Amino acid sequence: MFTLAHLSDIHLSPMPRAKRRDLLSKRMLGYVNWHRGRKLVHRREILDLLTRDLVERKPDHIAVTGDLVNLGLPEEFIRAAEWLHHLGPPAHVTAIPGNHDAYVRLHPESGTGRWQPYMRSNAPGELLMPTPPTLFPFVRRFDDIAIVALSSAIPTAPFIAAGKVGSLQRTLLAEALARLGREGLFRVVLIHHPPLPGQASWARGLRDAGRTTRILKQNGVELVLHGHNHEQTVRELPTASGTAIIVGAPSASEAVEGRIPAARYNEYAIARNGSGWHVEMTGRSVAGAAEHVWECERVVLRER
Ligand SMILES: [Fe+2]
Ligand SMILES: [Fe+2]
Repeated sequence: MFTLAHLSDIHLSPMPRAKRRDLLSKRMLGYVNWHRGRKLVHRREILDLLTRDLVERKPDHIAVTGDLVNLGLPEEFIRAAEWLHHLGPPAHVTAIPGNHDAYVRLHPESGTGRWQPYMRSNAPGELLMPTPPTLFPFVRRFDDIAIVALSSAIPTAPFIAAGKVGSLQRTLLAEALARLGREGLFRVVLIHHPPLPGQASWARGLRDAGRTTRILKQNGVELVLHGHNHEQTVRELPTASGTAIIVGAPSASEAVEGRIPAARYNEYAIARNGSGWHVEMTGRSVAGAAEHVWECERVVLRER
């Protein structure tokens, strides 16, 4: 059995103090928004409770699906790298960027490049599917499990939180899924934006959701993990190789009593079952004034 934990949209707080020149961009609006309300929503103590619980449970692997930072300030990327390090070593943790991690164009070295060790293939994954020069998708393999990590993060105009996989990544995704399927592996796709058409509005959604979903359907996938909507959702997608499960996780730091669903991460226990797979999902959650994390859900997502 393999256990894979998934958390998303940590929107790390507190916000570092911003220099005036850093705010001469789209960041200014975000900075005002943050201090008007978002800082009350994304709470560090909530994230720390979930992080501690997650680390103590020692899953085999941890996936983080983007929106680690808020305004893309260089200092935020450094702090998020420290948080990732606290979660586990790069061999143990896979991260992908979200729209907030591409808030403004930054030189990779002062942006997501700081998370590079967490955003690259491992040797068995590289053997299956070499990483393209554009870095995504990359593949990590752990025995029978293969993770295909996509980036849907693109810089956008203010008030737009859309994403895009793009034609190159879609082509490589198709190739990767087909190849991993032939190897009989359990395929997990990581993407920040919800992949199905209609799961988010035009201003917030994946621009090529239809075309990306078609790739998933044609080539098959077992599990797709995403964030972005800050909401727990479970969807099914019929594919050429059986039904895929698509799960969106809430924000791991967003827990305001009575207003917003509990902050949560999910843990998947994945085991071979005859010619198929058995997958059980356990939700671990914390809300409002609570000072502990509890098991809020346990459900078998597929039997075989
Ligand atoms: Fe988010
Ligand atoms: Fe997002």
